Amino acid sequence: MADIVPESEAFERTVEMLRGGHVVAVPTETVYGLAGDATSGPAVAAIFEAKGRPRFNPLICHVTSLEMAETHAEFSPLARTLAEKFWPGPLTLVLPLKPGSPIHPLVTAGLQTVALRMPKGFVARLAGSLGFPLAAPSANSSGRITATTAAAVQADLGSRIDMIVDGGQCAVGLESTIIKVEEGAVTVLRPGGLAVRDIESLTGIAIARPASRSPVEAPGMLTSHYAPHAALRLNANIVEEGEALLGFGPVRAAGAGKAAAFANLSEAGDLREAAVNLFSHLNVLDSTGAPVIAVEPVPGEGLGEAINDRLMRAAAPRDSGQAAH
Ligand code: TXA
Ligand code: MG
Repeated sequence: MADIVPESEAFERTVEMLRGGHVVAVPTETVYGLAGDATSGPAVAAIFEAKGRPRFNPLICHVTSLEMAETHAEFSPLARTLAEKFWPGPLTLVLPLKPGSPIHPLVTAGLQTVALRMPKGFVARLAGSLGFPLAAPSANSSGRITATTAAAVQADLGSRIDMIVDGGQCAVGLESTIIKVEEGAVTVLRPGGLAVRDIESLTGIAIARPASRSPVEAPGMLTSHYAPHAALRLNANIVEEGEALLGFGPVRAAGAGKAAAFANLSEAGDLREAAVNLFSHLNVLDSTGAPVIAVEPVPGEGLGEAINDRLMRAAAPRDSGQAAH
């Protein structure tokens, strides 16, 4: 079971753990989050691992200030208005990722956008002291309900993490509202702890709702969410002429020597390392212009499930009518 430490005594130890690349469950005003260094691949992989049966949905990055946020995302005047009005608070803004931001591609799932939020209190202070944003999905295992008390986090994730910071019951109890701000369009991606109607009435900004009444699907849930230009051929045991090869473990694919380009997710066959490398390696191979990326089999256990989930989405047909973001 994890140590439960009262918020008033937890700051220094939490800073140390996060600086060391560990994950810690932390209270925010919305729900408990499972936090890690957003610029560290291994830390982010450990977040997904602790969530169990994970999917690599993009994660929200928590910042301490608008200034920190602006080093990682491009703020239009509209985005700045929203941040100034509602931060700190239960509002997440999805904005264009700033080129050169050290936020790891596993956080953004390889997207060119990033979700940023300035929470109230403990987590914002942590990010301020550390000097980097904290990636933090809700602190529940996949498919379980969101935790709003330290005890609920303990019951769900206690065997998989070392420490839970106890900040009592979350004040809002609902995840943040996620708003995507693009040139000419402001859209709700997820309704949450800040009413969209209130955002509109307090700013005069019109916010688009999704066309259907069905729950909003964040892009991480769309079939062809991460779509490289190249086609992907999964579970490849042979490399065809002109194909790039994405390896896993000691290379076994026949014809690997004549691959047009090659990258290995993890020579040692380590799934955590493979998760860290997944999106950046796909990008590198995609940028070579090879029409097909052959991907060696990746085992399905642990983080392998999420890796295979993402690979399947990247390999999914593009004409299924589901937009790739
Ligand atoms: O209140 C909250 O938002 C909590 C606390 C811990 O801050 N966090 C939270 O994170 O709910 P999570 O990972 O459970 O939900 C993140 C949502 C996902 O649905 C994901 O698809 C969406 O944010 N998201 C993240 N980055 C995105 C991006 N670049 N574009 C669109 N959606 C994004
Ligand atoms: Mg969640």
